[in-house]
Amino acid sequence: MAEIVIVPDRAAAGALVADEIAALIARRPDAVLGLATGSTPLPVYEALRSRLAGADVSRVRGFALDEYVGIDPGHPESYRSVITREVVRPLGLDPARVRTPDGTLDGIEHHGEDYEEAIAHAGGVDLQLLGIGTTGHIGFNEPGSSFASRTRVKTLTQQTREDNARFFDSVDDVPTHCITQGLGTILDARHLVLLAFGEGKAAAVAGAVEGPVTSSLPGSAIQLHPHVTVVVDESAASRLAHADYYRYAYARKPAWQGL
Ligand code: PGA
Repeated sequence: MAEIVIVPDRAAAGALVADEIAALIARRPDAVLGLATGSTPLPVYEALRSRLAGADVSRVRGFALDEYVGIDPGHPESYRSVITREVVRPLGLDPARVRTPDGTLDGIEHHGEDYEEAIAHAGGVDLQLLGIGTTGHIGFNEPGSSFASRTRVKTLTQQTREDNARFFDSVDDVPTHCITQGLGTILDARHLVLLAFGEGKAAAVAGAVEGPVTSSLPGSAIQLHPHVTVVVDESAASRLAHADYYRYAYARKPAWQGL
């Protein structure tokens, strides 16, 4: 079962997960981080700034989950730009060691395979950060995505385009396609850390954690992974049937276990 940690707010979630990532980098200076975009992981990146100040991060590697197809990589909302702005620059990572899937149209049919090879060449992802969409997607794996899927082009649901319209001038400017790590790719990471905040995510979180394992709710794929940490605030936890048990278990967790 995933470990469910219910925290008071985003800052507490960011602190908890940033501690885990900083410890990973201290143990393994060439750690491979799986990076997520969107609003959810921002408290983690924010908390990491102080935790990594002075640390040697020159060998840390990173792979983003996804990218829009056809977007100019220099567009401020391309995930390449977002990762550069929110992660690479503030944390002082080597930009050459942090990749996002290539969403340029030229050769797009090969970009998924290239990305898979790059992840494999790096030795796989040590810790994968995940948000969850209101559609239940992780990465951009929309409902119906195969649990065996690898990095490939997908069509975004209209709901996801509306959810992401806040980053663009209008919903019509949100690209219709993306290139995303598959559920199979994500499940290969050694530790999954899924974060979610707010009432709007409560149904997706409950489905992912306690619902049936189904491609209709791609986040439920986490139930197939042996090492998952789900960090949620009270609102995002509000539809969890066993929230009291998760609190009870976390409060009694042996200190040696870590996340
Ligand atoms: P958000 O997106 O963090 O911006 O809510 C999460 C997701 O779509 O995976």
